[in-house]
Amino acid sequence: MSSLQNNPTNSPHILVLGMGGTIAGLAANPSDKPMEYEAGQIEVASLLTQIASAVPEGVQLVSKQVANINSRNLTEPLMSILGQAVRTSLADPVVLGVVVTHGTDTLEETGIFLQLTCGKYAQNLGKRVILTGAMLPANAPKADGPSNLLDAIRWASTPIDNCPGGIYAVMDGRGCMAMDLAKRHGSALNALIQNSPSSSVGLINPSWLSGVKAVQELWTEDLPIPKEDEWPWVEILTSHAGARSETITHWLTTKVKGLVLAGSGMGGFHDAWRDSLFVAVKHGIALVRTTRTGAGETFQDIPDKDPSGCLASGSLSAPRARIALQLALNAEKQSLSSGKPLTWQDFFARIAVLPVIR
Ligand code: SIN
Repeated sequence: MSSLQNNPTNSPHILVLGMGGTIAGLAANPSDKPMEYEAGQIEVASLLTQIASAVPEGVQLVSKQVANINSRNLTEPLMSILGQAVRTSLADPVVLGVVVTHGTDTLEETGIFLQLTCGKYAQNLGKRVILTGAMLPANAPKADGPSNLLDAIRWASTPIDNCPGGIYAVMDGRGCMAMDLAKRHGSALNALIQNSPSSSVGLINPSWLSGVKAVQELWTEDLPIPKEDEWPWVEILTSHAGARSETITHWLTTKVKGLVLAGSGMGGFHDAWRDSLFVAVKHGIALVRTTRTGAGETFQDIPDKDPSGCLASGSLSAPRARIALQLALNAEKQSLSSGKPLTWQDFFARIAVLPVIR
């Protein structure tokens, strides 16, 4: 029999951390208008009660509510709290694996954040952290949350020989590395995973698994989790027809530390930005360039020579590149105080070089 508890237990268990989202959402009129709902209404403990009879034999579950929000309102301090909760849980010998229920709107950001701050730790400990969410509220007739949550619990508790420890996500019957999540549709049940290299959760695809191992081999050291009030300010700016230099110069009088440029096509930006971007670099603002297309890689000095110090983001989308730049800037600051100074570019390059799973 499986068992559910809200309180910490001393026997081996899977810890389920609740962050809110549609998976914990309720619609006022679920049969007729399932898309009119409030996210983050139900406690994670209740979500587990709803699926209790289907949880695999012998799996003990413990839940902890970290937050109960609509993830479009996710804050950086909350990411720090979640990151610390994940690291603390991984360190606990009675926690066999961790599941995080989360809104899908910003799961992409949380996915890369946990990979870059806890990925190596989870891998070394041989434990899996599985993120999941839902596109339909919990009381909708065909709610996808229960099956996603069950898949996440099954994967978090499956013996390790099938797939190494690390940070993963499951949605709509498929699993991927959490750093590969990208919400590419407003309502489809596979919105977060439809463009991500993934495997069926039931039968792990060997070619996907060898891609995971290649990424893990190159990710040799986690980055520090920023203190709640120490996240560097980084904005995303999109290049478009009619772009103006003021879009860049505006930031020169602020405390912004970095800009992610979501360029057109291969990541090229409007000529109207060029001179002001050189000034931004002189002001000490970190620049990262990505593509606004939603897919494909961005390479250094293509399609044009990059302003000095500006890095191409590789396969990182704009939201992921933003988190990566924030963590790289924070790591640079920490490295200065530790007496082994490295630049944000040193840290960011380690992320941008991670191979794309084909
Ligand atoms: C949210 O991100 O919290 C709302 C949307 C969702 O979970 O699908």
